[in-house]
Amino acid sequence: GTIIFCSASVNAGAVLDGIAESGELRACFDAGYMPFEMKAKNNRYIGFDVDLGKVMAKQMGVKYIPVNTAWDGIIPALITGKCDVIMAGMTVNAQRNMKVNFADPYIVVGQSIILNPKLKGVIKSYKDLNNPKYTVASKLGTTGEMVVKRMLKKAKYNAFETETDAALEVINGKADAMIYDMPFVSIYAAQNSDKVAVILEPFTYEPLGWAVKQGDPDMINFLNNFLRQIKGDGTYDRIYSKWFKS
Ligand code: ARG
Repeated sequence: GTIIFCSASVNAGAVLDGIAESGELRACFDAGYMPFEMKAKNNRYIGFDVDLGKVMAKQMGVKYIPVNTAWDGIIPALITGKCDVIMAGMTVNAQRNMKVNFADPYIVVGQSIILNPKLKGVIKSYKDLNNPKYTVASKLGTTGEMVVKRMLKKAKYNAFETETDAALEVINGKADAMIYDMPFVSIYAAQNSDKVAVILEPFTYEPLGWAVKQGDPDMINFLNNFLRQIKGDGTYDRIYSKWFKS
């Protein structure tokens, strides 16, 4: 008889092949999330994810191409092939994991609070904000928003397109607090220490991971081995210390 090879994994390795063929590693992110990805004054993109992406591209022997993408369109951008990988401080969660694959987490963070200074001492934990008299801000489509909807159901919630717009609401007094990832909160509070108070201790557990399309175990294998190597050889620590003050 005839042997027919019918492989469901005919596309395996498609992402890595595409990267090799085009000579480009295209990484999606949404700039503004300090210190992972920011737009510098010279319009170049900088940050923790950007540096890690550049090292990855170098090891692949290709060029690093930043693809700045609005957060609420970042998973569709990956799925439709506008980038090869999301390197954007994305929290690994079940909802997203239904749509994309994640490499092993490269850092663990959690939600913290930027607080209007007049509430310093009044709000001692996120639980105190769960009250209709308080308005909280976060960024559209982020885990900050998900946490507000899940854990601060009684508070009023205002969503913003960018991190800085949400944080400004606290400064201008229209919001009592902003709920967001601890690294951003830490840097923002340090930069605006005269204008905001902060509750830094994270109250959620959030591993961040790079995301790729479903059905490509080869790219996941590459990312995990890349991570293991840079964590072992000091590269990760060097880049980490550049962006995170201990
Ligand atoms: N970790 C949060 C999340 O996954 C926020 C990430 C925001 N990232 C960015 N590049 N703006 O929802």
